[in-house]
Amino acid sequence: MADEPLLRDRPGNHRFGSIDPDSAHVQNMTRKNFTKSLLFSIFACVIGSSYQFGFNTGVLNAPQKVIEKFINETYTNQTGHEIQESTLTLLWSITVSIYCIGGMIGGFAAGYLCNGFGRKRTMLANILLNIVAGVMAVLSKYFGGYELLIAGRFMMGINCGISTGVAPLYLSEIAPTNLRGTSGTINQFAIVVGILVAQVLGLKQILGTSDLWPYLVGTTLIPSVIQLLCLPCCPETPQYLMVAKGDRAAAEKALIYLRQTHNVQEELDVIEEEYEKLKSETKLGIRDLFRVSSLRQPLLISVMMMLSQQLSGINAVVYYSTSIFERAGLSIENAQYATLGTSVVNVVMTFVSAVLIDHLGRRTLHLHGLGGMLICTCIISVGLLWQNQWPWASYICIAGIMLYFVAFAIGPGSIPWFYVAELFSQSPRAPAVAVAVLVNWFANFLVGFGFPVIQKTLENYAFVPFLILLGLFWTYTYIKAPETKNRSIEEITAIFRDKDDLPGYSRLTNNKGNDEIVKNV
Ligand SMILES: *[C@@H]1O[C@H](CO)[C@@H](O)[C@H](O)[C@H]1NC(C)=O
Repeated sequence: MADEPLLRDRPGNHRFGSIDPDSAHVQNMTRKNFTKSLLFSIFACVIGSSYQFGFNTGVLNAPQKVIEKFINETYTNQTGHEIQESTLTLLWSITVSIYCIGGMIGGFAAGYLCNGFGRKRTMLANILLNIVAGVMAVLSKYFGGYELLIAGRFMMGINCGISTGVAPLYLSEIAPTNLRGTSGTINQFAIVVGILVAQVLGLKQILGTSDLWPYLVGTTLIPSVIQLLCLPCCPETPQYLMVAKGDRAAAEKALIYLRQTHNVQEELDVIEEEYEKLKSETKLGIRDLFRVSSLRQPLLISVMMMLSQQLSGINAVVYYSTSIFERAGLSIENAQYATLGTSVVNVVMTFVSAVLIDHLGRRTLHLHGLGGMLICTCIISVGLLWQNQWPWASYICIAGIMLYFVAFAIGPGSIPWFYVAELFSQSPRAPAVAVAVLVNWFANFLVGFGFPVIQKTLENYAFVPFLILLGLFWTYTYIKAPETKNRSIEEITAIFRDKDDLPGYSRLTNNKGNDEIVKNV
């Protein structure tokens, strides 16, 4: 707790000894605006990456019955005998969860692909993966049967995993420091728009029928084609060009395009400074993240941020909401619309968050979001416990759920995705993103698989575990997470370096588990 004021201090007051105060000053003074080319690049990135992730996460939720019927039919056609209830349940769970397995693989690979091939080329190659996966899923209805659908979902998972790694990285690197948060939040905005579109198109009245579901799954190809047309016109990130390629001229060209001005020398100098420093450092891999204490701490914070997003129970509420709405006396149809309502709330509030984020800061919004979710989880739990005695208590649940989405969208929905990229300098950034995104997908998988069990065991107390976890995450964020708003990467990494390392030295844990101080090479 003693270091709390330090973490909150504005960087302008020169407490960070190792930083050239002038460069920090300049960074804070030159506030930049969104240019048309920056907005275009953001659009080209999110339409094919973030949006696709949201869409494919939500697309099978509404037409579950329809897809189960399809699995049943193709299974019977192939084997000649009727499918067992348990086999059907198993095949359905595989169809849903193999997406998360693919996501873990893609998310882990993303960091390396980004560093090896560049952010832009990774996204371009990823479009092809999306198209192949989409076509497989569509054709499964006409040719292969459920196996092809499952294979398509697996490929789609890899595709979306890569997207969750590369998109936040690209967005935070092309934006100027003072707009990095908004740019990163647009990632989440596109995700929730994708979920909403999937839910709307998945309604029985639109594409969620036995005949039309291949078109529902197939609409994923439209944004891919749009991205394929737009992205080649967008630049690679200046950071990648300079740091990975050492190409100052190319980085300058990218910056001039993104900022729509030739006055980019200051920004370029900051990136080059980082590059010069990097040249003298050793290349860092995943193992170093755990060994070097100035990296271990931000890694732990990143992992906790990712866990706080998934283990807050958001997906449990997503799955549970329709049945709660039904119990509150809404017809099945109206319960579906109420669930749509939660997605609309999510979209609107994510937009509000995008506007607020660079003014209020990541730490503040994340804390308010987690705190709000904590209170709402209490409200939902009370509603669940009371609704057997008093029917009106169901409305407490409905209100609780709506507010829960408001709180989620304010911070925990968007911040963890780009916060990781903000905590690390170029060299450890890719491995850190790899670990964090992997953890996120794994936690997602865990909640998706574990919640039905929790629900069966704890019944109306099903949200109590999330209540406890939210309390833990709130406390951890309050104590440990630094504010990154309007800070250059130099200033942020200094927070972790200054605390326990001498300048030019790192603290390593040797194989006996003790810390030792080693001179940087
Ligand atoms: C599979 O479909 C058949 C025919 O429509 C139906 O009678 C059977 O109950 C279904 N099996 C399961 C496990 O739903």
